[in-house]
Amino acid sequence: MNSAAASCPDDIAAAVDRLRAGGLVAFATETVYGLGADAGNAAAVRGIFAAKGRPADHPLIVHIADSADMAHWAAELPSAAIALASAFWPGPLTLILRRAAHVADAVTGGQDTVGLRCPSHPLARQLLAACRAAGILGVAAPSANRFGRVSPTTVAHVRAEFGDDLMILDGGPCAVGIESTIVDVSGGGARVLRPGMIAAGAIAACVSVATPHATDVMPRVPGALASHYAPSTPLVLLGEAELVRRAVTLTRSGKRVAVVATPATLRQLTGLPHLAAMRSAAHEPADYARELYAALRELDASEADAILIETPPAADDWEAIRDRLARAAAGAGRHTDPP
Ligand code: TXA
Ligand code: MG
Repeated sequence: MNSAAASCPDDIAAAVDRLRAGGLVAFATETVYGLGADAGNAAAVRGIFAAKGRPADHPLIVHIADSADMAHWAAELPSAAIALASAFWPGPLTLILRRAAHVADAVTGGQDTVGLRCPSHPLARQLLAACRAAGILGVAAPSANRFGRVSPTTVAHVRAEFGDDLMILDGGPCAVGIESTIVDVSGGGARVLRPGMIAAGAIAACVSVATPHATDVMPRVPGALASHYAPSTPLVLLGEAELVRRAVTLTRSGKRVAVVATPATLRQLTGLPHLAAMRSAAHEPADYARELYAALRELDASEADAILIETPPAADDWEAIRDRLARAAAGAGRHTDPP
């Protein structure tokens, strides 16, 4: 269970037992690995915060087996919620709804809303269906990383965060690779709180989306902190010309540099000394997202003094990737001077 692939029925049953006993289980989803607890058990949910080192007022997403269970967790189901759930579930979308009275503060961070997501990964679906049969109607799960760190997209990443004692359901590398799109439908319309691979344009094609006003009170969203998803090596986002200039200057001064850039940009760096790593940026946003967090971890481990990443395209379908890179850059190398 702990290291080998773990999608057999025995492993699912063992995971359900552990969740019923108030324990934690990490599991694959299509976005990133989650660190789950029975969402109906406040003490178990508090265990997630202790394990992650996450501030207690940051709400968690409740993962459900079926959209029929929305009504258990939400006080009301606005038409936008129903439209989005039927368009995008199961899948990488989280809906923020007014919470039902029984939902624990530990889950909602004391807010009057609850985040719900019905994931599409077959392993997550098996787990949630088995939980449901055992009377667990939702699994509260943040990404299975310590607070502020890069989200895990493989079992090895989860192990690197939490060690060998944690039970992990291994569903292989995550196909989407970055966290779900979060849409707030608690206030009537729809507002995108966190961009994801279901792009804002796809949400807007389905329901009417409100543009946030400067005076809006935004809910607390840890993924919305300016610095998040952060490697420990300083990371800078640069356009092509500036990236090449910076790589030349840094390597000339003896610094080791890791670079993610388009093949055309990388060609201009051929022959530079002190390159700790070079990665070719994927051409398609879906491929870029799938590889992103593994790449950040790998570059972080390359012992570079700086990670230079070429700014991705400005188009809508790259928004979530630009968002994660900007937050990674803002949080990276907090204990080191930027290059
Ligand atoms: O793809 C995902 O969403 C992954 C997988 C495991 O499902 N989960 C994930 O969880 O990214 P986490 O905790 O790392 O991020 C959840 C986000 C946070 O930014 C949290 O603040 C927001 O969801 N959230 C949860 N409930 C909320 C609520 N009631 N109001 C506003 N934001 C909420
Ligand atoms: Mg997270």
